[in-house]
Amino acid sequence: MTSALTTRLVVLGMLLLTSLGLSACGESASARPSNATDQGAALVREFGCLTCHAVSKSETGQKLGPMLAGLYGTTVRLADGREVTADDAYLRQSILQPDAATVEGYSAGVMAAGIERHKARIAAGGTVDALLAYIKSLE
Ligand code: HEC
Repeated sequence: MTSALTTRLVVLGMLLLTSLGLSACGESASARPSNATDQGAALVREFGCLTCHAVSKSETGQKLGPMLAGLYGTTVRLADGREVTADDAYLRQSILQPDAATVEGYSAGVMAAGIERHKARIAAGGTVDALLAYIKSLE
């Protein structure tokens, strides 16, 4: 009797652990970012992008640069009055030549100065792709 109960408890415990394990795996699998997205997430820390850009709508407080979450695909108004779509080409240019276009309400020159010392690495192959993948993943 006792051993049967013990067996049951052990089985129950195993089932519980398995289901916990499975649901945890399920979550991380569905939310798992691609390799490039992961790389981008590490790079925005390394390059100091996060000092000037919020990457979550829950972040409060004004930063020096615009919010990056939800930016992809939206219309951006520039200081010269033009309106552009935040597509791959625009984002790529914003990162590689920050002063090619200035977002309305923000200052030109700030970002260029901020990333100056990382310029070579940002221009290196694959870096901007990873940054783009990361920015696109932000909701
Ligand atoms: C020193 C502050 C600073 C740093 C560091 C910085 N940025 Fe910026 N960023 C700005 C400012 C200010 C603007 C808006 C003015 C402009 O368009 O240049 C901007 C604009 C942008 C835009 C265009 C946003 C929009 O709404 O159209 C993108 C994309 C961007 N930054 C990405 C990055 C990435 C990626 C990094 C890191 C490699 C980075 N920034 C580092 C200040 C910064």
